[in-house]
Amino acid sequence: MRRVHGRNVRGTWRFAEAAATRPPDAQVTTVIALGRPIRETAGPMDVTVVDHPLAARALTRLRDESTDRATFRQTMDELAGILAYEACRMLPTEPFEVRTPLGPAPGVRIPAPPLVVPVLRAGLGLHGAWVRLLPDTDTAFIGVSRNEDTLQPEPYMNSVPAELNGRTVIVLDPMLATGGSMAHAARLLRQRGAGPMTGVCVLAAPEGLRHLEETGLLDHVVTAAIDDHLDERAFIYPGLGDAGDRLFGTA
Ligand code: PRP
Repeated sequence: MRRVHGRNVRGTWRFAEAAATRPPDAQVTTVIALGRPIRETAGPMDVTVVDHPLAARALTRLRDESTDRATFRQTMDELAGILAYEACRMLPTEPFEVRTPLGPAPGVRIPAPPLVVPVLRAGLGLHGAWVRLLPDTDTAFIGVSRNEDTLQPEPYMNSVPAELNGRTVIVLDPMLATGGSMAHAARLLRQRGAGPMTGVCVLAAPEGLRHLEETGLLDHVVTAAIDDHLDERAFIYPGLGDAGDRLFGTA
């Protein structure tokens, strides 16, 4: 059973379109809000909305237009750690015995850390936490800029290895608006043989999630919130503004 946890800014997340187009044999998804199932829907992509007071406090600080750049960066890093815990929940572990000062104890190691892929620029704001939590992991970079007239992703760099051999991949991009940038990154990674793939973002728009689900490229999205809608500029509303500009400026 797939699970979708969390609430959006209105209190619950409804994915009516997914339910309406649900094929008869689709896997059932139970949506959990505050520990209670609130509805059932279906789809091949899991979505986890991290419902935690520390995540909510950090997100509030990111949304606040008066938050300065240094605090914005620091808070994004703090939230990235919380999102990483959730995104790593499904990583396979391998048991081994460790010795405490008193005797043997069961331990685990993570034998195959995922490939972490920040989508430039704004994805860099989430990257530091992953390097701290999984210091042995590799990073590849994908540079994509959304054309603000056409809303299409315009790629400008890519350091993904030619063959990923089924490796688990984590794609980092704080803003999932139309989903075009995340889909571009995920498609490229699939073409190079990515295995299980999770997208980690701070905010997602329902339109972007729907688009990603239709592509079937990602297995899982982890986000701190699903906002209300995209505005006329395809910005996430109420959102937090332009994450890249708030992290790095406009120079
Ligand atoms: C923003 C944002 C995402 C993308 C989301 O990046 O950081 O990468 O747009 O939009 P989408 O889901 O509609 O594709 P932008 O292109 O502004 O580049 P930046 O990260 O360099 O600021």
